Amino acid sequence: MSIKSRFQPLLEQRAKDHLYRRRPLATTAQDTAMQINGLQTINFSSNDYLGLANHPALKKILQETNDLSVGSGAAHLVTGHHLEHHLLEDELADWLGCDRALLFSTGYMANLAVQPALMQKGDWILSDKLNHASLLDGALLSAADLKRYAHNDMKALEKRLKQAQEANIQCLIVTDGVFSMDGDLAKLPEIQALTQKYGAWLLIDDAHGLGVLGQKGKGCFEHFGLTPDENTLIMGTLGKAFGTSGAFVAGSEVAIEALIQFARPYIYTTAMSPVNAKVTRSALKLVRDANVRRQQLKDNIAFFRQGATAIGLNLMPSESAIQPILLGDSEVAIAWSETLKQAGCWVSAIRPPTVPKDTARLRITLSASHTHAQIQQLLDALKAIQQKTHS
Ligand SMILES: Cc1ncc(COP(=O)(O)O)c(C=O)c1O
Repeated sequence: MSIKSRFQPLLEQRAKDHLYRRRPLATTAQDTAMQINGLQTINFSSNDYLGLANHPALKKILQETNDLSVGSGAAHLVTGHHLEHHLLEDELADWLGCDRALLFSTGYMANLAVQPALMQKGDWILSDKLNHASLLDGALLSAADLKRYAHNDMKALEKRLKQAQEANIQCLIVTDGVFSMDGDLAKLPEIQALTQKYGAWLLIDDAHGLGVLGQKGKGCFEHFGLTPDENTLIMGTLGKAFGTSGAFVAGSEVAIEALIQFARPYIYTTAMSPVNAKVTRSALKLVRDANVRRQQLKDNIAFFRQGATAIGLNLMPSESAIQPILLGDSEVAIAWSETLKQAGCWVSAIRPPTVPKDTARLRITLSASHTHAQIQQLLDALKAIQQKTHS
């Protein structure tokens, strides 16, 4: 069988189901106003929550990296671990109040790394059903048994923990901090209490919380006034609020050493560029001092939600920068997204398998850098679609 004979029908079916993916082509810098597919648009589909990706201070640091090689040249355990990586790890750990942090090239790789490294045959991974795909894939790579619980269902989680305790099984609870396609938060106070009650371990993916949530932007733990304990690992991405790229896992001394020894997506890959590490150190300083930007983002979220509610849109219960509009049908989601593009607003349609069947949606993401005028343009365009749909 040729590759074509296997895949041509699958590709055609995907298109018929309105599930075909295409890559929008950006021809200007990542920003709230940018050119995509030749259209001048306001970008409402970026995770650059604090508007740092194109920040002049970071671009200036980039110009001051002549002493660094572009590539790291090797894996961290060979000769690729540069002082800039090491300092960034120390600074991230200090910021979050953890013993140590460990850099990864992407958040996807960090999530592939942790569960197989920590969990052994006979252990259970208890994972929220709406967790990011990378957490699911990480669980599937592990020798442990995967038990998924209904989204944020604390009763279902506790039931599993009780069963595990009776059978003397070690559990790792795995959850997004802010759910990436819904924008709601994990019930961290309950989850942490259950973790400690049953002697489980906890992996929080705070990709969309770090930099944004909490007074000082330290993410969902700070938001809830909690402190991660020694059996907790926090995964954070650098490609979202930090505006650069890469990721890290923060945790106890022993947990991080275990990852260095046993996490294959850490060991068998080239270290991120030292240039990226250096720029990210400056991004961390900006994130730490970004109180004004965090306030602007909050204000933009409130402005959008107020306007969207006023025009009767089906908003989801999210107070975060992720503001999905649930539409259900994939074809409808694509049609809305296309109409918004023509009105100068870039909003991606999110469809299965990224979200469950019949829950296609527009995923609007807001940034501190959006102006109210830009958000109003989106609201006006949404109102026009809404009126046309109901006329
Ligand atoms: C919740 C969550 N975890 C992990 C990732 C992966 O991070 P990265 O883009 O750095 O690979 C993403 C998105 O990209 C995400 O939304």
